[in-house]
Amino acid sequence: CDFNNGFLVNIQTLLNQRIQAAMVASGAADDAPALVRQSAKVQFGDYQANGIMGAAKKIGTNPREFAAKVLEQLDLSDVADKVEIAGPGFINIFLKNEWLGAALANLRDSDRLDVATVADPQTVVVDYSGPNLAKEMHVGHLRSTVIGDAVVRTLEFLGHNVVRQNHVGDWGTQFGMLLAYMERLREQNSEVSMALSDLESFYREAKICFDEDEAFSVRARELVVSLQSGDAECLKLWNEFIEVSLQHCEETYQMLGVSLARQDVKPESAYNDDLPKVISDLDAQGLIKEDQGAKCVFLEEFANKDGEITPIIVQKTGGGFLYATTDLAALRYRQSQLNADRVLYFVDARQSLHFQQIFTLSRKANFVKPDTSLEHMPFGTVMGSDGKPFKTRSGGVAKLSALLEEAQERAFQLVASKNPDMPEEQQRNIGRVVGVASVKYADLSKNRTSDYVFNWDNMLSFEGNTAPYLLYAYSRVASIVRRSEMDVANFKAAINVVEDQERALAVKLCQFEEAIQQVISDGMPHFLCAYLYELAGIFMSFYEACPILNAEDELKFSRLQLALNTASTLKQGLELLGIETLERM
Ligand code: ARG
Repeated sequence: CDFNNGFLVNIQTLLNQRIQAAMVASGAADDAPALVRQSAKVQFGDYQANGIMGAAKKIGTNPREFAAKVLEQLDLSDVADKVEIAGPGFINIFLKNEWLGAALANLRDSDRLDVATVADPQTVVVDYSGPNLAKEMHVGHLRSTVIGDAVVRTLEFLGHNVVRQNHVGDWGTQFGMLLAYMERLREQNSEVSMALSDLESFYREAKICFDEDEAFSVRARELVVSLQSGDAECLKLWNEFIEVSLQHCEETYQMLGVSLARQDVKPESAYNDDLPKVISDLDAQGLIKEDQGAKCVFLEEFANKDGEITPIIVQKTGGGFLYATTDLAALRYRQSQLNADRVLYFVDARQSLHFQQIFTLSRKANFVKPDTSLEHMPFGTVMGSDGKPFKTRSGGVAKLSALLEEAQERAFQLVASKNPDMPEEQQRNIGRVVGVASVKYADLSKNRTSDYVFNWDNMLSFEGNTAPYLLYAYSRVASIVRRSEMDVANFKAAINVVEDQERALAVKLCQFEEAIQQVISDGMPHFLCAYLYELAGIFMSFYEACPILNAEDELKFSRLQLALNTASTLKQGLELLGIETLERM
């Protein structure tokens, strides 16, 4: 058979197609799914099809008999050397070693690990990070930023057209207070730019004045009004502040290795002129009701048991607009100007109701097309060991930049104690990569929907599903390859899958695409983390059981090729997660 004829390594897709066709040929409905999954236990083969029982029930036949019929129609002889019926009607599939070897050869020859780009790319708008510019980025922004970025990278890798949208908060009442403080410093001839270099304390000082000084708070309120009415002097001051704050964000993105750039910033203020239009559109469609002077939308979908509806307030008494109004304008822009097929929001789970309301209302008001997919990708909170949201030792919010610096310092200490003879510059570089990777990976590797506890010792451990473990595993593979003294760039060997450990590694390597599909369908990078962790573990068992460098030539080349494939898969996977790798550690 011809393995090179458009052959792509996605075993699940391949088996789904073949088995489903056999099911239909055996009398199942056209849309009966084969439900092929990776098997949980070796005795069930490499993959199992779970769809037989459901399909048989629908057409009223005995599932085991139906399974037997399907097997008669099914020819997997090129892929599998055993296909059997188990239990009430599962089909277990045992892949063929020769086929695995050929699949890996394709993987080896592809510059993208034989992962197909999608046939019909979508325009996917991804809303992530979105810090409030009044303050510096803190630990609360970590999740949105790193999870969003990993999903963005993966979507792009698969060939989708991704539009990053950094919906930063740069508008609202706090800015009056901050501008008033800038003004005051200037009056006192103090260095404003100096004061702005520490945004946290700038905010704190401004807040103290606001709370304690009547004249100051009056001035702050005046400034909000002038700002919102477009006063030139005020805008100048505001721009100055925003510029400094955005630079802080960019420094943090840089440290984090996050792919957000200035052109991805689409701030709340950018939608100012659209807000009255949003209101008049909603009004024209009869969606707005006045409630105590405020303009509200009452949607039945959000009624509680007693029929009371939590309204969406779109304009306050006095005319001010709200967070929700801006999100409606943003969504309309994403549909009409960016032509989104899919909009993903990586935002804290506490905003779930907000997004459900925005989505429902946007559909009702025809701000989005019916088939545009709107997805809130919620995440839980980063917790401290005390079971409360993570704070610094002194009890303040943890600045993200300070956290990353601490991570790098801790990782450096660790590296220095493990490798005392290494030059400090190298220790520092490893410390930088490992430190940042540890913080990111600790976050990425957890199911995003749950809370997790921020713990330095766990995230910096060389054991378990951690960044240090994976980075070390990668550097081990890299060092084996180096010691082979082969011309790696031009090295291409046939892979001969024989031993159990070789087989396990081969199967795992072929499952890379399946892992990244899960990342983009559910917006959940932890599936890819789990995959890479398992891959690294399987490689270690393989390496223990199957000597590479001391084996005879052909065997050595085959195993070396397996090692090379492992290295490129680990590297590619970590890259999709936004994690830098090290050749030496
Ligand atoms: N600035 C918001 C916050 O800090 C997050 C923005 C999320 N994106 C959005 N389109 N609302 O909570």
